[in-house]
Amino acid sequence: SERLVISTGGGDAPGLNAVIFAVVNAATRKGWEVYGSKYGYGGFLEKDELIRLTPDDVEGILSQGGTILGTTNKGNPFAKPVENLAGEIQIMDISDKIMRGFLRMGFSCHIAVGGDGSLEIAHRFAQKGMPVIGVPKTIDNDLEATDRTFGFDTAVSTATDAIDKLHSTAKSHDRVMVVEVMGRDSGWIALYSGIAGGADVILIPEIPFDMEAVCNKIAENELHEKHYSIVVVAEGARAEGQEVINKGKGEMGRSEMVLGGVGEWVAKEIRQRLGKDTRSLVLGHLQRGGSPTNFDRLLALRFGTAAVRLAEQQVYDHMVAWVPPNMTAVPIAEAIRKRKKVDLANDKVQTARDIGICMGDEYS
Ligand code: F6P
Repeated sequence: SERLVISTGGGDAPGLNAVIFAVVNAATRKGWEVYGSKYGYGGFLEKDELIRLTPDDVEGILSQGGTILGTTNKGNPFAKPVENLAGEIQIMDISDKIMRGFLRMGFSCHIAVGGDGSLEIAHRFAQKGMPVIGVPKTIDNDLEATDRTFGFDTAVSTATDAIDKLHSTAKSHDRVMVVEVMGRDSGWIALYSGIAGGADVILIPEIPFDMEAVCNKIAENELHEKHYSIVVVAEGARAEGQEVINKGKGEMGRSEMVLGGVGEWVAKEIRQRLGKDTRSLVLGHLQRGGSPTNFDRLLALRFGTAAVRLAEQQVYDHMVAWVPPNMTAVPIAEAIRKRKKVDLANDKVQTARDIGICMGDEYS
């Protein structure tokens, strides 16, 4: 019989617990044993961080946000900063130690749930001989290999709800409200939540924006006696000819957010150019929290069970992916290479333009 180990790495996303629930139940029904490794690879190194998971242990977690296993906070095992006796930080490769832990426990397969960083690490372990199956995880929905990632739908619905709520203050105070949403280098969350939330302007990294176009839209609203506007800005958006204001994730996987990100910058420009009362806010990690939507639960359950099927077929170093209507398997190395950007010819961008939303480029 098989002995699986599952880990969750990188930022949390609603639906992670549903993947764990699916893997534990599907594998147990085949007569296999399942273990959970805490904090990414913690369970490969320390007994205390390895837990046996039975269907009883995961009962009730399907609908919960976050991950019962915790997520990587210990850096990349291939380049891990470790403090030596002299108090200096040294970069160490502890991957052999992790491999030994994996073999010692007699695991037959490792199901690694993670974003591009964690999946790249999983692929490197596969090259060292660890039978690995990847499950993609990101609220950003920026992986080309899979039509959707779980967590995105929940993040979009949280952001839409927040934008809905901002309408009242914007309208009551005749204000411009600028809301910055997540998405790293892609504009999916901004596009989906902005369209559905009735935004006037949506700024995404795929379309470097022009403040003049943004201000034209707000001024046009005024002409039509609409004295408020809602501007949705993706954290990775930037003005034409400018550097990205919010830097991406740093070495340690944490985002190096410059104080007062792109949302604040846009708000300041609007205030200066139009003299409108303007406020900005960053939704931040709210978008990663809460109970997953029905869509995300179902997708996460399908990913988890598909991963167990791959384990049965011994298809390793592959990631499960949803290519509607089917679940498929894609080599991990290939899957993490291709990022999915908002396609400007996509009908959703056209829909936004058709209903009068300014996408940051020319608007008159
Ligand atoms: O990739 C998911 C994500 O939430 C991005 O949208 C965001 O840029 C980043 O992670 C934030 O990371 P952290 O939790 O390290 O601040």
